[in-house]
Amino acid sequence: MSKCKILVVGSANADLMIATPTLPKPGETVRGNNFLVAPGGKGANQAIAAARLGGDVGFIGSVGDDDFGRIIRTSLSDSGVDTSYLCVRSNCPSGVALILSETSGENMIAIDAGANDFLLPTDIDAVVDAIAGASIIVCQFESPIATIEHVVAVAKAYGVPVLLNPAPARRIGDEMLEGVRFLVPNRQELAGLTGLPTDIVADVEVAAKTLLLRGAQNVIVTLGREGALRATIDRARMFPAPIVEAVDTTGAGDTFVGGFAAEWCRTSDIDAAVIFAQRAAAYSVTGRGAQASMPWLSNLD
Ligand code: RIB
Repeated sequence: MSKCKILVVGSANADLMIATPTLPKPGETVRGNNFLVAPGGKGANQAIAAARLGGDVGFIGSVGDDDFGRIIRTSLSDSGVDTSYLCVRSNCPSGVALILSETSGENMIAIDAGANDFLLPTDIDAVVDAIAGASIIVCQFESPIATIEHVVAVAKAYGVPVLLNPAPARRIGDEMLEGVRFLVPNRQELAGLTGLPTDIVADVEVAAKTLLLRGAQNVIVTLGREGALRATIDRARMFPAPIVEAVDTTGAGDTFVGGFAAEWCRTSDIDAAVIFAQRAAAYSVTGRGAQASMPWLSNLD
C-alpha cells in the first residue's frame, strides 16, 4: 500500500537561539547562554515532524545557496523529507530567526525572511501536479501571502484538503477560509484572526465559532499546557495536554501540525490525530531547539 502524501508549503530558517532566565523587556538587555544555530522555520519544522512521525512528506520552500541553506537542506533530508521541490536561490540569504527562550519554556522570535520571500505563485504553478496528487497540503503564513492564497486556491480546485496554520497571525478573507479543511491557530493567533478575546476556553470556543461560520470546516486551537480545542459547526471538544516539564516550546506548534497531518493521513480520524499531535508536541517541549527535539515515531511508544 502506498503511503499518503503530505506536501508542506512554507518557510525554512536558520534559528539563532539563546536561552535566558527571563525574556527582556523593551530597552532591556539580559544575559543568556547556550547559543545554538539550528535548522528551523515553521514550514520546514512541520515537514520534518510529519516525516519523522511516519508521513511521506515533500517540502515546497525557498532557501539561499549559503551555509544556513545547507544546514536546512541536510536536516530535511536526514528526516526523510523529499527536497526536490525546494528552490535554492543564489545571491540571496536564507531566512533567519532570532529566538530567545526563557527558562519557563516561553519564547520570543523575530525573523528576517530572506529567501522565503522569494517563494512566488509561479513556483506553485511549477508543482501543480504534485499538489493535485497530494493527500493533504500544509501551509503557514511565513511565506508571501499571495503564494499561500494561490496554494489554497490550487488545492481547492483539485479537491485536496488544506491544513492552514495561520502563523504569524494575520486576518484571512472568507474565500481562503472556505478552502481550508483544518485551521490550526494557537490562542494568540486566534485572537489576531478574529479580533476577539481568547483568554479563557469559553472565549476560545466563541472565537473559533466565528471562523466556522465564515467557512472553515474544522478549527483546532492549540492551547499549550491547557490542551487543544477542536471545534466544528455543531460541537466543541477539549483535549487535555499530556503533563510534561517544558524546557523550550520553540517548534511545539509545528510538531503538533506535522503530527496531526501524519496521523490524519494514516487514520482519517480527526480526534485521534489531535491526541497523537498532542503527544508529539509534548515530547518536543522537553528538549531544546525546534527540530532537534521533535520525536520520531519510536519515541512516542
Ligand atoms: O515555530 C517556530 C519557528 O518559528 C522557528 O523555528 C523559527 O524559525 C520561526 O519560523
